[in-house]
Amino acid sequence: MEYTTVTDTTAAGRKLDDLAPVYEAVFAEPPYLEGPRDVADFLERYQREHKTPGFRLVLALDAGRLAGFAYGLPLASNTGWWTGFLDTDPPDEFTREDGHRTFVVMELAVLADQRGHGVGHALHNALLDGVTAERVTLTVRPEAPAATWYERLGYQLVGLTQPWDGAPVYRSMIKPLRNQDVSA
Ligand SMILES: CC(C)(COP(=O)(O)OP(=O)(O)OC[C@H]1O[C@@H](n2cnc3c(N)ncnc32)[C@H](O)[C@@H]1OP(=O)(O)O)[C@@H](O)C(=O)NCCC(=O)NCCS
Repeated sequence: MEYTTVTDTTAAGRKLDDLAPVYEAVFAEPPYLEGPRDVADFLERYQREHKTPGFRLVLALDAGRLAGFAYGLPLASNTGWWTGFLDTDPPDEFTREDGHRTFVVMELAVLADQRGHGVGHALHNALLDGVTAERVTLTVRPEAPAATWYERLGYQLVGLTQPWDGAPVYRSMIKPLRNQDVSA
């Protein structure tokens, strides 16, 4: 498996045609059961997100074929990321952002026939390699196998969140990147 990190905005934009079929296949699976509308939302989101300063994309290529990808970006100072909690109300000092403090793992996906061989770990590690933020965060559906997988990677629960009305409930998770205390 070969891993390639893309940080250039133009190059990251050009990769979208490669990411789309992998996203579609992976998130059609339970518990996501995503369809064409969700894939269209992903395409629209990516077209905005890849232009964010600090955006990083990592591709896992198996003999030239895309086996998985991960991407993420830093939270902006005016982010709404730390809203929508159902069971906790993190303090201002915890939710304060300045564009550098927190890196978000936005998507991490490995094709089903490539899982269980360390590709997910390698994508995750390559994505964070060189990130200078204090902490990394992500949201994950509690019923997804990835929820416990992230715990094994050292992520701690912040709380349960519902980002918009009618959205599924997600676990908001956080992990220190530089020996920081990240508890809410
Ligand atoms: C979550 C996901 C990315 C993990 O990908 P993966 O390639 O199977 O991950 P890994 O192979 O690194 O880890 C899976 C297991 O394989 C094991 N493994 C096998 N060989 C390994 C190796 N060489 N190096 C590291 N781990 C290895 C690991 O121990 C790990 O076991 P664990 O689950 O007990 O920790 C993948 O299941 C996926 O795409 N799921 C659907 C999408 C999703 O839910 N994404 C996350 C939410 S956005």
